[in-house]
Amino acid sequence: MIYTRISGTGSYLPGEPVGNAALIAAHGLDSSDEWIVERTGIRSRHLAAAGVTSSDLALEASRHALQAAGRTAADVDLIIVATSTPDYVFPSAAALLQSKLGNINGAAAFDVQAVCSGFVYGLTIADKFIRSGSHKCALVVGAEVFSRILDWKDRGTCVLFGDGAGAVVLEASDQPGLLSSAFHADGSHHGILSVPGQLCGGVVTGDPFLRMDGQAVFKFAVKVLADVANEVLGAAGMTAAQVDWLIPHQANVRIMQATAKRLHIAPENCIVTVGHHGNTSAASIPLALDESVRAGRIQRGQHLLLEGVGGGFTWGATLLKF
Ligand code: ACO
Repeated sequence: MIYTRISGTGSYLPGEPVGNAALIAAHGLDSSDEWIVERTGIRSRHLAAAGVTSSDLALEASRHALQAAGRTAADVDLIIVATSTPDYVFPSAAALLQSKLGNINGAAAFDVQAVCSGFVYGLTIADKFIRSGSHKCALVVGAEVFSRILDWKDRGTCVLFGDGAGAVVLEASDQPGLLSSAFHADGSHHGILSVPGQLCGGVVTGDPFLRMDGQAVFKFAVKVLADVANEVLGAAGMTAAQVDWLIPHQANVRIMQATAKRLHIAPENCIVTVGHHGNTSAASIPLALDESVRAGRIQRGQHLLLEGVGGGFTWGATLLKF
């Protein structure tokens, strides 16, 4: 039996943290540190300098993950980058990452565009490749520069997001690792969270900035996160009581608390890192995972429940033994 195991994690945050007060002052926002902290739990975020792209952030996170796994780029035969803010329309951020890593072994490389669920989508896809026997060592990365698609005049959205990347190395193993996964979408909700612009004749038509109905997103997110968590637990024959760590998409502390409550998972078993990196979309779960592994909170052998929800709408979860 072939299983998929995480053999290493890595992450990267660009530059210095930008606190709420500094962000408000820089953009002349009618907001306050108190409002942002109370409604979201976010105190600071990192913003990539001009010219720094998602594949640059992905490269740093990948190097850390490969080092932790004791692997080199030459060992990797599959590269999946989850991003909604790729460097170019094409080629993919994954192809650019492959080039930057110096992987010249013809590893398959492609992007997954499922917004904040992208990392869980990527894990689910890579798991199927590895279990099939077709691939042995995958790099799955979430990397975003959401600061590029924010309207800095819209206080309802621009305070919520940040830039960063997180990565894992997945390897074929005879020991159980990823236990069950599920991913879903319902495109009828495309209107409540989107960047409704496009390239046409060399110019952007429509609106190139992120637009969101925050309350609609909140309600939808809490419901599907609880549903998909129960789905993967049921598929693995486990209960929430057996989960050592819940690692939800880091969008908002209140969404995470509400989800943990619905699942009867104690708040202290829920990893929360959104406070110091904001919502980094596809990067948020692997960032939270890597930080907690390196801090010694997450230990080998523990059961982790990773779950995400994002624009589309998309959602998904992965239950694993670390
Ligand atoms: N500072 C001060 N006031 C603000 C700010 C701000 N940054 N943003 C909005 N407000 C104001 C609004 O204009 C409104 O003012 P009004 O009453 O005069 O009209 C008031 O605050 C309340 O606005 P609401 O939108 O009702 O505030 P709410 O309590 O819903 O909080 C928030 C807004 C934080 C966006 C919340 O809806 C939320 O967390 N939604 C989830 C969205 C989310 O996390 N999205 C992340 C992307 S999606 C994802 O990753 C899955």
